[in-house]
Amino acid sequence: GAVDRGLEGVVACSTAISTIAGTTLLYRGYTIEDLAAHATFEEVAHLLWFGRLPSADEFARFQRQLDDAMALPAESFGWFHGLPTDVHPMDFLHAVVAGLSLHDPDANVLTYEANLRKAVRLTARLATIIAAYDRVRSGQWPLQPMPGRSIAWNFLYMLHGKEPSARRVRQLDTCLVLHADHELNASAFSARVTSSTLSGMYSSVMAAIGTLKGELHGGANEQVMRMLLEIGSPKRLEAYLDDALSSKRKVMGFGHRVYKEGDPRAAILKRMSAELTAEIGRPELYEMSAAIEETMHDRKGLIPNVDFYSATVYYSMGIP
Ligand code: COA
Repeated sequence: GAVDRGLEGVVACSTAISTIAGTTLLYRGYTIEDLAAHATFEEVAHLLWFGRLPSADEFARFQRQLDDAMALPAESFGWFHGLPTDVHPMDFLHAVVAGLSLHDPDANVLTYEANLRKAVRLTARLATIIAAYDRVRSGQWPLQPMPGRSIAWNFLYMLHGKEPSARRVRQLDTCLVLHADHELNASAFSARVTSSTLSGMYSSVMAAIGTLKGELHGGANEQVMRMLLEIGSPKRLEAYLDDALSSKRKVMGFGHRVYKEGDPRAAILKRMSAELTAEIGRPELYEMSAAIEETMHDRKGLIPNVDFYSATVYYSMGIP
């Protein structure tokens, strides 16, 4: 029988939240370029959840709710510190989200109000968990988030232990905006399948985290960075790609199920990668990336996706 690869042509739902048309990506009708340049992640979360950008009052209220939720609950610290840290960060995140669900009285309450409370908690806490994990695995005590600051600000602060520059915060905000939604991608699809059984938001987000971890989805940028560091020098690039392509290995960060002409997020990240790698004195990382892009285009007709240039962007920001 016929198989629809990657659910191509299969309509699983309709959505007003985000739209991909050609090489255009819209969140609630706003172009991704516009939002990446002008909006914060919190504003975009409000836009995605409630259908409109927040007024000043709404923004202040939303920010306060996120503030109140950002620190991990005190009762979570005991078991958090007992977890192994020489594991994949996404597995750690998955386990801690599961653990948090056990302490959340709303975990299995499926009303709209309870769902909103959980959405706020999860959105505010994922960055805290990841930063805490990185500190614990490198033998440091985790930091508490600072109220009144954005998620991007707090993530960099809790990860690096010092106040980030406004410029870095803006750059990370842009990345968070670019990753905030993408129609029915693999992780969103997993989350929907799980939530459609009325299993609850924690189970859905855990399903999404598990799916996102895979190297053909969100795990790709981790593999891109490994590849660039393994190649090491522009001189070795051609031999590396010859070997990969002739042995039919996938080159991570290329190709896309939906975009065939270009991923609009990649264009924004490419500019950021050029800037950031120059700022940290590693311009060769960008130069190698651009050369790989050219070769992949000429030899395979494949375009870089969101994961390709985000690898060097995050690496340059000091996010391992
Ligand atoms: N490197 C080399 N070849 C690739 C490739 C890549 N990154 N992506 C696709 N191809 C090739 C496949 O080998 C296949 O060739 P074949 O027809 O000779 O067998 C053909 O292109 C179609 O590949 P397929 O995996 O079916 O494409 P898809 O459109 O269904 O899949 C992805 C999309 C994203 C899963 C795929 O491009 C991929 O695995 N990319 C690398 C992982 C990645 O960057 N993921 C992040 C996505 S945002």
